[in-house]
Amino acid sequence: MRLWLLLAVASAVFGQNNLIPRGLIPRDAAAVEAGRRIYMGSCSGCHGATGEGSQGPSLLSGRAARLADRALLNAIANGLPGTSMPDFPMGEEKVAQVAAFVRSLTAPAIRTQTPGDPERGRQLFFGAAGCAGCHMILGAGGHPGPDLSNIGADRTVPQLREAVTRPSARIAEGYRAVKAVLRDGRTVEGVARNHNNYSLQVLDQAGKLHLLQASALTAMEWRDSSLMPPAAAGDAVHLIAFLARQSSRPTVGAP
Ligand code: HEC
Ligand code: HEC
Repeated sequence: MRLWLLLAVASAVFGQNNLIPRGLIPRDAAAVEAGRRIYMGSCSGCHGATGEGSQGPSLLSGRAARLADRALLNAIANGLPGTSMPDFPMGEEKVAQVAAFVRSLTAPAIRTQTPGDPERGRQLFFGAAGCAGCHMILGAGGHPGPDLSNIGADRTVPQLREAVTRPSARIAEGYRAVKAVLRDGRTVEGVARNHNNYSLQVLDQAGKLHLLQASALTAMEWRDSSLMPPAAAGDAVHLIAFLARQSSRPTVGAP
């Protein structure tokens, strides 16, 4: 009785007609992918391609992530009356797919199912795709890219997808590419781990950290793009599946 009352209140708040009788959000990769396509067409204009928000609020901040499943489903199906969030009466299955995608925006990759073959991803990472030339995973690999041992727990699947397919879209803090020219004519190339008016710390491809005084430099050439080349289109899905599983801490309750 009490539960019934609560649900009635919830549906009065989130819309008049309850289009979501089952209230279940799927987690499988196919549903998330179907939801991503609907989201790109119907939602990204207001909430941003990776949920970062523009006209509408960010879906990455706590508020959307804290919505209960049923409230999320109802918000999508019925809209949020009195705001510019429209209703999307597109049928229960599609609403559930978009909700699955919205959830995937905030769930760490290790907690979601991804399409692609992680073993194939591992082979590409340490082989033909050349990723291990710049990144370490549990001590294997190279520099100067960030260590990826825990990347599946630290990032969401959409973040991994962006990092792998469009590395220059957002450059990780402390990893801007720079070329420093010294007074003695030498050059040092790598990523700027630290930089202020007096000094510059550059991590090069060999893993060596150069601490350079500003007074010893004749030029600093900053690159606008990432040092990282984008992954080949056919490789990305497998690389993401592999990275999604990288967690150096034990994960309790992961699927
Ligand atoms: C015309 C712009 C617009 C479109 C299109 C749109 N939204 Fe929204 N959405 C909003 C606004 C504005 C809000 C904030 C309403 C409020 O003030 O509470 C919102 C709120 C939300 C919320 C609640 C989050 C919160 O912080 O309150 C969710 C979840 C959401 N939208 C998902 C979606 C999904 C999924 C789609 C596509 C099916 C979509 N929206 C399409 C404008 C839009
Ligand atoms: C030439 C060196 C280089 C190569 C090769 C390279 N990366 Fe990167 N990668 C970087 C650097 C530098 C960054 C940090 C700057 C940025 O955000 O783009 C980075 C960032 C990343 C990130 C984001 C890390 C984070 O903390 O969010 C991921 C994921 C990643 N790389 C995966 C890969 C994969 C997969 C490959 C192989 C297809 C690859 N990288 C190849 C240098 C490289």
